Amino acid sequence: MALPHPAPLRHPTALESGATKASPTSFPKDRIKILLLEGVHPRGADILRAEGFHVECHAKALEGDALLRAASDAHVIGIRSKTTITPEVLAAAPRLLTIGCFCIGTNQVCTREACDRGIPVFNSPFSNTRSVAELTIAEVISLNRSLVEKSVGLHRGDWDKSATGAHEIRGRTLGIVGYGHIGSQVSVLAEAMGMRVLFYDVVPKLALGNAKQVRTLGELLAESDTVTLHVPATSSTDNLIGRGQIAQMRPGAFLINNARGTVVDLDALADGLRSGRIAGAALDVFPVEPAGKGDSFVSPVQGLKNVILTPHIGGSTEEAQESIAVDVVGKLARFVNNGSTTGSVNVPEVDLPEQVRTDGQIEHRTHRILHFHRNVPGVLGHINAITAELGVNVNAQYLRTNEQIGYVVLDVDPSDAPSLDDRLRTVSDTIRVRALW
Ligand code: NAI
Repeated sequence: MALPHPAPLRHPTALESGATKASPTSFPKDRIKILLLEGVHPRGADILRAEGFHVECHAKALEGDALLRAASDAHVIGIRSKTTITPEVLAAAPRLLTIGCFCIGTNQVCTREACDRGIPVFNSPFSNTRSVAELTIAEVISLNRSLVEKSVGLHRGDWDKSATGAHEIRGRTLGIVGYGHIGSQVSVLAEAMGMRVLFYDVVPKLALGNAKQVRTLGELLAESDTVTLHVPATSSTDNLIGRGQIAQMRPGAFLINNARGTVVDLDALADGLRSGRIAGAALDVFPVEPAGKGDSFVSPVQGLKNVILTPHIGGSTEEAQESIAVDVVGKLARFVNNGSTTGSVNVPEVDLPEQVRTDGQIEHRTHRILHFHRNVPGVLGHINAITAELGVNVNAQYLRTNEQIGYVVLDVDPSDAPSLDDRLRTVSDTIRVRALW
């Protein structure tokens, strides 16, 4: 079934200097409505307003009719994790160009339906890397000095000055499982504090500093005084640390999980802690987490000695919120301004240059037509037949597809753009066309 074409949207980009005069149909930026919900960090709105967009902010999530109403004239919607963008919301937002998730996950958006409508969804998977790495380092020291235990004891009135089981971290071995964005940052910070760093990853990784990649998880577990987990939740990491792995750890070692709750078998860990095989643990993530504040939390590791429990706050810092805002608005503005879909989680990624072509000393601004279509045979042939028939001078053409849709971008001479734009809207299996004059 053909989806209705959204209202045509032609507007100048951020690059106005030296540009060909905008056509009479150009869409002014201050009429592009960007709706930011859930108290997205104010830096995001500041950047978008400085670009000239019309930005509307709401402190809370919207739902039901209020969300449908707000979305009905929005060109861009920015949310965090509490607003659900269903097919119904997408259908109620005929002008919607793109969606920004100012967080890591995108489960709250029906990304497949958005793809079917040619609406890229962006998120920010790595803006809180440093925050998680710093929490991990804090926990390495805290576990080695039983900091939380001692503090809680003293609040109760217990004065315990004993040094037994307390260690400097200098010279001790940190084993990092998963040497990606976070794991490699932890590696750098740990080495700066004098730790010896080993890591295990399923793919060969460039070791930073003096860190050393080991061949097996067992080797890492047997050699590390503290093991910290930084792997994604996949079928291969489900219960990656279970009874067998705990038995392979050094007696008196510590375990940190700031990755995903499914990675550790908590019953096995609780037994390891009770028996003293594991001297302490820090856990920020759990197999089942409460939906929100006030919901109860129950876990087999509660009440055990030298266990630090935090409510999934590894990435929750003001700095991370700000860098998420900067990252996501950058992706949204780039798509609106020049059509690039780099970093989108649901549509083919196309990384486009600025719309300026240099011919000797003279700069020409090319006109750009963005064409989303269903990924069926013949569409590109049809588009190329139209450009040939109209005698269009194509300066550049870009195409990427995924299994659902194709995204083709044409940079053409300004004189050719209006007629080409009109004709491309008639191509069968077109989802949407947007022109950037
Ligand atoms: P990343 O994708 O950059 O790195 C993951 C690494 O794990 C990759 O190098 C990959 O090759 C490796 N890996 C995958 N499967 C493996 C296996 N079976 N054994 C060993 N290594 C394996 O991910 P990033 O950004 O470093 O995040 C790591 C984890 O931290 C993710 O689970 C993420 O969800 C979680 N996270 C937790 C936060 C919190 O608030 N506690 C905040 C941000 C991320």
